Amino acid sequence: SELDLEEMYAVAISVAREAGQIIRDAFDKEKEVDTKQSAADLVTESDQAVEKMVNSRILGKFPNHRFIGEETTAVSGEKHQLTDEPTWIIDPIDGTTNFVNSIQEVSFSLGIMVNKKAVIGVVYAPIKDEMFTARLGKGAYLNGKKLKASKITDLKQAVIITEGGSSRDIKVVEDKVKNIHTLITHTRGIRSYGSAAINLCHVAAGRGQGYIEYGIHIWDFIAGALIASEAGAVVLDPTGCDLDPLRRRILCACSAEVAKGLSQILTHLDMGSD
Ligand code: IPD
Repeated sequence: SELDLEEMYAVAISVAREAGQIIRDAFDKEKEVDTKQSAADLVTESDQAVEKMVNSRILGKFPNHRFIGEETTAVSGEKHQLTDEPTWIIDPIDGTTNFVNSIQEVSFSLGIMVNKKAVIGVVYAPIKDEMFTARLGKGAYLNGKKLKASKITDLKQAVIITEGGSSRDIKVVEDKVKNIHTLITHTRGIRSYGSAAINLCHVAAGRGQGYIEYGIHIWDFIAGALIASEAGAVVLDPTGCDLDPLRRRILCACSAEVAKGLSQILTHLDMGSD
């Protein structure tokens, strides 16, 4: 049957609101926390509850579509085969460490890929009630208002977002510290909000000029990357090549000049693939 992108978009927004309600209800309560790959890689009952709800809502509506979810993957440990089929990619709570600490930067992230290309991106930050949406070729919006990335081209004037991430591998941490040193030296300042999806939406909204991270996963960034690029930002592999959605790293910048500057000064970590 004909792919109904309008209906998929409407379902995406409605499950994002429902996910937001689950996250808000649990936000101020005591959380049951488990760890995954490292002591800094967290999952809660709420992550699992949101993912289960979304999974059943989507498969109920679109039984032939594929589903990649952070917590389903954590359990199955499977590598992802990204096919041409419509695929819903979900991070039930991006910013779980923030969630556990009742820090407001938490989000639900949902990206839809068709023919291995992102066509719909929805990031909902329920505590601040910020709904970021984008459809390929149709712009990016925050609560219905059109987004435009910053126009800055000079890296010295740029605020760059980056994260420590969850790997505790000594070499990875060393290279990241080196990059933080480099970023502080060459930019106006660095920031870390603790949610890759929100970081990308900040760049889309002109709240800073760039975001770089090594070690994240497709579910952390696929929705935010479409939102940022539809707001006029540049989204690439940190080396400056095309983004590979399974290669666990991303560079986003408000302009090609800032992207090029970042790409040239950073040490590019190889974090394997999803
Ligand atoms: C995390 C956030 C964080 C990033 C970590 C991710 P999660 O996602 O996106 O910003 O630095 O690498 O794991 O685990 O909270 O969904």
